[in-house]
Amino acid sequence: MTLQRIGEDHGEPASAQREIMTAENKKIVLLPGDGIGPEITRVAVRVLRECAAQFGLAFEFDERPFGGSAIDKSGEPLPAETLAACRSSDAILLAAIGGPKWDAVPPEKRPESGLLALRKALGLYINLRPIDLHVPLRGLSPLRADRAVDIHIDFVRELAGDVYFGEHRVDADPSGERATDAGSYTTGEIERVAKYAFERAKERKGRVASVDKSNVLAMSRLWRKTVTRMAADYPGVKLEHMYVDNAAMQLVLAPAQFDVILTSNMFGDILSDLGAALAGSIGLIPSMSLGSGPALYEPIHGSAPTLAGKDVANPVGMILSATMMMRQSFGLAKEAESIESAVDRLFENGIRTLDTMQPGMTQVGCVEFGERLCAEMSAGPRQPKRAEHGA
Ligand code: IPM
Ligand code: MG
Repeated sequence: MTLQRIGEDHGEPASAQREIMTAENKKIVLLPGDGIGPEITRVAVRVLRECAAQFGLAFEFDERPFGGSAIDKSGEPLPAETLAACRSSDAILLAAIGGPKWDAVPPEKRPESGLLALRKALGLYINLRPIDLHVPLRGLSPLRADRAVDIHIDFVRELAGDVYFGEHRVDADPSGERATDAGSYTTGEIERVAKYAFERAKERKGRVASVDKSNVLAMSRLWRKTVTRMAADYPGVKLEHMYVDNAAMQLVLAPAQFDVILTSNMFGDILSDLGAALAGSIGLIPSMSLGSGPALYEPIHGSAPTLAGKDVANPVGMILSATMMMRQSFGLAKEAESIESAVDRLFENGIRTLDTMQPGMTQVGCVEFGERLCAEMSAGPRQPKRAEHGA
């Protein structure tokens, strides 16, 4: 097990190390995973260390095998020790898992099944994916300039049900085989995630778009009925229902209409990638997953095996996942803000990784982005603070 303490100088006497272990001390399990995962994790840790040093904080890191790299070590994508460490942590920071190397392993042993098993074991049923188009990155959006404005969408994706967690089976069939994936939702499963979306909308622009396919699916009909009933408890929130096919179109045609989008596991997976593209790059988007125990923070992108080892990955989705962790799990709002505003200043200064590169900007690698970010954090804000949602 790797155990490091942020803010600690190597070689310090044990007594000095103990002094750093104040009430602020938080145990973060790191799951770097596969592909670009380890690279972006190193940069995020570097940035967290810098922040800790600046604010006199102490974090404790516990790095664990997970995903394909864990399969290589032990044959299991989610080893029991990794799960136990996650359960006893204050928060989990996961980078990305998977890759073609593990395509041939049986479905229940794939890296992805480890991720689903982790979400299930930790009871994570809310997945928040904020899609924000940063002003200096507007030119990266594939949308026409008049549409690439005011994109601030919070996707609230249900994370513990749907076809993801129903029975998956393959039977014989006269034509070859029959594959079946069973999905379900209960009233209670819908209520708990919808409650979060309504509460979130109260803190934002007061609008929830609930996305379903209730013209076809029984699950969606229960979803719509439940969400409609709950809306009565939130008179300040305007609820709208939208079919998922229309929602995909509306996201492209008029994304500024959305505030909070509440949707099921599968639709949320698909639409949030679409949303990420609107914001310029999937490499920018963080997420947090909440349940009854420790929360899990992860960028929404994958392990990008073709980019791995080339120092070209964008660490921003991972870094912003870490700042979500600081706010949500540790209550460190001003510390998180110092990192986020420094990210915005780098963007304003034209510092870009490959995926967000534009003419006239300066392309840097993953590591250098992290170094420049740390320097920018020490320099402190020279410009107005990052605008709040909806401002
Ligand atoms: C995501 C990913 C996962 C999902 C995969 C890797 C199982 O696409 O977090 O969006 O579908 O939930
Ligand atoms: Mg996805």
